[in-house]
Parts: sequence; C-alpha cells; structure tokens
Amino acid sequence: MELESKNNKDVVGVSNEKSSCPPPQPEYNLDHYQQLLKQTPMVVIVFAMMAVSCLVLYHSSIVLPFRGGYINPFIATNYHANPLSRILRSAAMDDNTIVITFLNDAWAEPQSMFDLLLESFRIGNQTERFLQHLVVVTAGEKAYARCSKLHPHCYHLITNGTNVSKEEADFMTADYLKIVWSKIDFMGKVLDLGYNFVFSDADIMWFRDPFSHFDKDADIQISCDFFNGNPSDLRNLPNTGFSYVKSNNKTIQFYKLWYNSRMTYPGLHDQDAFNKIKFSPFVRNVGLRIRFVDTAYFGGFCRPSRDLNKVCTMHANCCVGLENKVHDLEILLDDWRKYIKYVGNQTTTDVYKGSWTVPQLCSRGSFKRPRPPKKKVNQDKS
Ligand SMILES: *[C@@H]1O[C@H](CO)[C@@H](O)[C@H](O)[C@H]1NC(C)=O
Ligand SMILES: *[C@@H]1O[C@H](CO)[C@@H](O)[C@H](O)[C@H]1NC(C)=O
Ligand SMILES: *[C@@H]1O[C@H](CO)[C@@H](O)[C@H](O)[C@H]1NC(C)=O
Ligand SMILES: *[C@@H]1O[C@H](CO)[C@@H](O)[C@H](O)[C@H]1NC(C)=O
Ligand SMILES: *[C@@H]1O[C@H](CO)[C@@H](O)[C@H](O)[C@H]1NC(C)=O
Repeated sequence: MELESKNNKDVVGVSNEKSSCPPPQPEYNLDHYQQLLKQTPMVVIVFAMMAVSCLVLYHSSIVLPFRGGYINPFIATNYHANPLSRILRSAAMDDNTIVITFLNDAWAEPQSMFDLLLESFRIGNQTERFLQHLVVVTAGEKAYARCSKLHPHCYHLITNGTNVSKEEADFMTADYLKIVWSKIDFMGKVLDLGYNFVFSDADIMWFRDPFSHFDKDADIQISCDFFNGNPSDLRNLPNTGFSYVKSNNKTIQFYKLWYNSRMTYPGLHDQDAFNKIKFSPFVRNVGLRIRFVDTAYFGGFCRPSRDLNKVCTMHANCCVGLENKVHDLEILLDDWRKYIKYVGNQTTTDVYKGSWTVPQLCSRGSFKRPRPPKKKVNQDKS
C-alpha cells in the first residue's frame, strides 16, 4: 500500500472495533446429542429429527447460494461457528487459499473503487473465477452494506465509518495507523486459521491469474513499487498492497512479529515496519523465504506492467486522491478491453502495439511521483 492510496483510503476510524460481529454461536457437540438420544423417548427423537431437518433445509436455502452448503450438526462436531472461520471456509479454494481485499465506505460507493475491482475480475483473462474466493473485509457500515449487496463473502472488521479526506496531513494520523495495523492483525488471524491468502488492495485491478508467476518455494511474496530484478534481494522496496502468503509456522510467527513491530517502531505504518523487520534475525534464523514479484507482471502507476501480454495486476499506486485513482483506473480498464478485443479478432495476426494510456490524473497536480529509491527509505514514499 503506498502512501497516496493510504492517504485517501482510510482516514477516520477505529481499528479495535471487532466486536461488531455477532457473538459466536454455541458449538455443536456430538456427545451432547448422544446423551440426549439415551434419555429421550423415540417419538420425541423422531419429531426432533424432523424439526432439525427442516431447520437444516431452511438454512441451506439461505447459505447455498454463497457456496459451501449447510452444516450438519450431527457430523460437524469440530465446526466453529465463528463468523470469520465460516466465511473463510466458504470462500477458500481447494488448497485453502483465499483472496482478500479491504474496503472502506468511500471506496465502496457506486461507480467507485469496488465496482472497478469487480469489473476487472470479470473482464480479466479467466480471473472471474477468483471472485468466489474473494473475501472483502470492510471498514464502515456502508461498505459492509454495499459489499453484502454485490458479493457473497463480506467480513465486517471495523464498525466505524471511515471518512475520506483530501488532506495529506491525515496520512499517519493515529486512527489511520490503527486501521493499517488492524489489517496486519487480520491477515495474521487468517494464517493462524490455516488459510493461505493473496492480499490485494482494492485499487489493484486483476487481468490474469497471478498464481503461475508465484515462486512455489516462497513463504511470503510481495509486490514492489520498484523492482531491482532480483526476487530474493531484501533491498527491493515492497508495496505491501499485494502479497501472497502461505500459512505455516514461519509466516504465522512473522505476522506476529510484524504486528508487534507497531510498538517497536511507534508511528511507522505497516510498510515501513516491514522494511525494518525484513532484515531481522528472525527471518534468517527460521529461514523465512521472502520474494519480491516482478513489476512486469505485477505493475502499477509507479512502474507499469507495460506489456499487456504479460500483465497480471495493475495497482493505482503513485497516485493521490480517490477521484484521480478512479478516473485513471476506468481508462485502464478501457485499455484492457481494447486489447482483449484486438487479440480476440481472428482476422488480425499482428502483435498488439498499444499499451496503457494512463497514468493521466494520477501523474498531475498535487501528486509528486516518487522516484526509484537510491538508498533512503522513508515514509513519504512507498
Ligand atoms: C469509532 O468508535 C470509537 C469507539 O466506539 C469512538 O471512540 C470513535 O470516536 C468512533 N469514530 C468515529 C469516526 O465515529
Ligand atoms: C487467456 O488465457 C488462456 C488460457 O490460459 C490463453 O490460452 C489465452 O491466450 C489468454 N488470452 C490472453 C489475451 O492472454
Ligand atoms: C467527514 O468529512 C466531512 C468533510 O470533511 C465532515 O463534514 C464530516 O463531519 C466528517 N465525518 C466524520 C464522521 O468525521
Ligand atoms: C508447527 O509447529 C508445531 C509446534 O512447534 C509443530 O508440531 C508443527 O509440525 C509445525 N508445523 C509445520 C507445518 O511446520
Ligand atoms: C478485426 O481486424 C480487421 C483487420 O485488421 C479489422 O478490419 C476489423 O475491423 C477488426 N474487427 C474488430 C471487431 O475489431
């Protein structure tokens, strides 16, 4: 997540508002049912089973459209009715991987970022199937309501609505930092529950399946604003807006370390803290494999993925202001549609010579385009 997107993404809000989810429902316990069976006359049992089947059927009719089916209380003794577990399980791919994005109220408005994101999945090459694995984590009531209207897997993480401000001064406010860190906390929980994830900021458009470009042996893969050509060089400057993380002991520990680093480095946001702890002895000692993905496939407005035959994702990074991002991403999607139309035209065999016609607004006005870093890593660039 780069500075600029953060600036207008989340401004006002409180992160430790996780009590918004309904309280966990009681767990179904097989012993309990066996006990009941012993003590209860047959007629009552038959009647009860009929009632339960009706209940199950009733439930399944609600739950089924969202994939995952119903929970049979007689079988699922280990079922935790925790809302997060339930959502993750229904969204997960066969290998327990989910795609995660975060959404606040402003970004969830009609004709704004959320619509563009969903559209990119639909017009991308074979990316629509990822929608059923996408968990949208929301900050704000409006974001949750809009998400629930359009998408099957929405998780309400932060209750307070977030306000959108155009003042750069709001970047790095206490509220902003709380939200940023609650995202890291959330991702750690997902790993803890045994799920791998691709985390992708909502201003990252998907055009192709990213998985074929991931390193099978890496634990954490992360995008870059600027990529130096060596995927394992820790001096690459990451953009934490896009990452692919496998759930294992090393990554679970690393996310705890990362989350705790908010206290070690007070005032830093997640990305700057990451840049500190990537060099920590922990990473070396446990052999955590961090890899940086190439901007040729995972590009952005800082460093576009110029070749439309290669691009997987494009990030509206190096851009200030929600309106500017939305404006340029609309054009980006149009550029992609033109490309798809061209390559789909059976009568043409020429190589497509076009590329993105953006950034436009994203490279103007208040915006100061970060240059590829020399040495210093600081928080006004990311
Ligand atoms: C969010 O909720 C917290 C705690 O309930 C409150 O202190 C804070 O002022 C709220 N923020 C907004 C923007 O409503
Ligand atoms: C889309 O994906 C399919 C299957 O991977 C591939 O054959 C086709 O060439 C791709 N089209 C474009 C435009 O990338
Ligand atoms: C959000 O921002 C607007 C305009 O800056 C302001 O009028 C409003 O009070 C803010 N809302 C909250 C909840 O802070
Ligand atoms: C994780 O650690 C636990 C306890 O130390 C160990 O039993 C387990 O095998 C480890 N799992 C993996 C995947 O390394
Ligand atoms: C397909 O390509 C041909 C030859 O370049 C062109 O005349 C035609 O208009 C194209 N069709 C579409 C639908 O773009």
